[in-house]
Amino acid sequence: MGFDDIDYQNRPVVAILNTWSELNTCHSHFRNRADEVRRGILQAGGFPVEVPVMSLGEMLMKPTTMLYRNLLAMEVEEVLRCHPIDAAVLMGGCDKTVPAMLMGAISADIPSVFFPAGAMLSARWKDVTLGSGSDVWKYWDERVAGNLCDSDWKGIENCIGRSAGTCMTMGTASTMACVAEALGFTLPGAADIPAVVAEHSRLATRTGRRAVEIAWENRKPSDFLTAQSIDNGLMTSLAIGGSTNAIVHLIAIAGRLGIQLTLDRFDELSRTTPVTGDIRPSGRFLMEDFYNAGGLRALLNELRDLLNMDCQTINGITLGQQCDGAEVINREVIRPRDNPVAPAGGTCLLRGNLAPNGCVIKSIAADPKLLRHRGPAVVFNDYPEMKSKINDPDLDVSADSVLILRSAGPLGAPGFPEWGMLPIPKKLLQAGVRDMVRLSDARMSGTSYGTCVLHIAPESAAGGPLALVQTGDEIEINVPERTIHWHVSDEEIERRAAAAPPLKELPPRGYAHLYAKHVGQADIGCDFDFLVGRTPGAEPGIH
Ligand code: FES
Ligand code: MG
Repeated sequence: MGFDDIDYQNRPVVAILNTWSELNTCHSHFRNRADEVRRGILQAGGFPVEVPVMSLGEMLMKPTTMLYRNLLAMEVEEVLRCHPIDAAVLMGGCDKTVPAMLMGAISADIPSVFFPAGAMLSARWKDVTLGSGSDVWKYWDERVAGNLCDSDWKGIENCIGRSAGTCMTMGTASTMACVAEALGFTLPGAADIPAVVAEHSRLATRTGRRAVEIAWENRKPSDFLTAQSIDNGLMTSLAIGGSTNAIVHLIAIAGRLGIQLTLDRFDELSRTTPVTGDIRPSGRFLMEDFYNAGGLRALLNELRDLLNMDCQTINGITLGQQCDGAEVINREVIRPRDNPVAPAGGTCLLRGNLAPNGCVIKSIAADPKLLRHRGPAVVFNDYPEMKSKINDPDLDVSADSVLILRSAGPLGAPGFPEWGMLPIPKKLLQAGVRDMVRLSDARMSGTSYGTCVLHIAPESAAGGPLALVQTGDEIEINVPERTIHWHVSDEEIERRAAAAPPLKELPPRGYAHLYAKHVGQADIGCDFDFLVGRTPGAEPGIH
């Protein structure tokens, strides 16, 4: 490779774990950024080595990147463990790459700093500001309703991906970047810097320099992450009106630390955490506005009384010190405590006979009129059936119906895809309906919105009660009371359970087999059972 001894002797080996791929649209700037990270590592006296790891791009992977989150986590863990690596820069951004890389680094327990891809710049079409994901769904509904011509659709398509970077709404990518910063895994201020501004390049180089320092300090994830940091991550995702996916990922991240994060803990924090970030899809603005408004540090600075500001970070200072002096520049984007987007309960845990182990709803992204609702079920057995029937003019459905999709969970789909924002039937769109109560064992994109009850556990494919619901059954949700009720007698449920077909068999081989055999349900974070917890006394290379 052409190195002299002096190139690497007495220098920490710092790996740049890069999730760049030409099939990951959100990471298209990562080749440049890797060079900028390398510059920082060299400046600080380290020996940089770039190591590609699996890329999980939301746009082009089927059936869903979530199927592969744990695979990337395993790859990161083993790549860090089997090479002579002293510290790592984790380059991720698009949704699942963030939790996967954090989970892997935690399990390997090697000094690691996360470098988020940053969000795209805000998009404009005509005089409209477009937000990725959210406005795709919104304008697709208009197109189905017949309100948008071909050339307008093409215009939107050409504008909505403004630059390199992740979705610029508060989707899963930006939510998880904020969570990573709140956990203490990034440099201060990293979460909200847009992907293509000069500051993002400077962040890359600074991150490289810091990676060399943490190698000398031997500052490992286990040295700064605690149950209190995990709480900070959860409260942050709630306060920014973040993606429901953050709950699943944080449970999995905590699990790698040996910390059991429960949905009940999530419920407790949800009842006390205000939503102050006014960002789409639950609010009005985009990530670039959030950055210009002061960003995450400013938002967290105003929640000092709720957060655990004493938690340590990768930077050798506390979260409180990281947020010191951060000012809110724009009060519309980061709302004051006495005039928040919601005083609490932006995302809620529901329980009831249809979801014995819980389910979630992002109530701030729903039509408030539907948060207490009772209606007859319209059940789709799986995604293909839903696709083939949803726009059928003869489908017996009204605005009061409760649309239900099953076989869409971790096992059923498989992979726990983002099918939870079921489309509104075309005939109802044409009649002006834009939201309905929808229920599934799926997830939904962080950029999605609507009255969608998600992550029903146990899922139908694992024998959950959702498997037994029939079209016409009455379903009731009451979000203020945190309940979901299926109005069918226990005897009838037992009768249907006895007549239910056996559960699906495991796929016979390959990753799909490993996945189906070991994946956990939504309420426990969907990690593989054999990856949860810490390996006592493990050292790199010794299992
Ligand atoms: Fe990559 Fe949204 S598609 S972040
Ligand atoms: Mg997404």
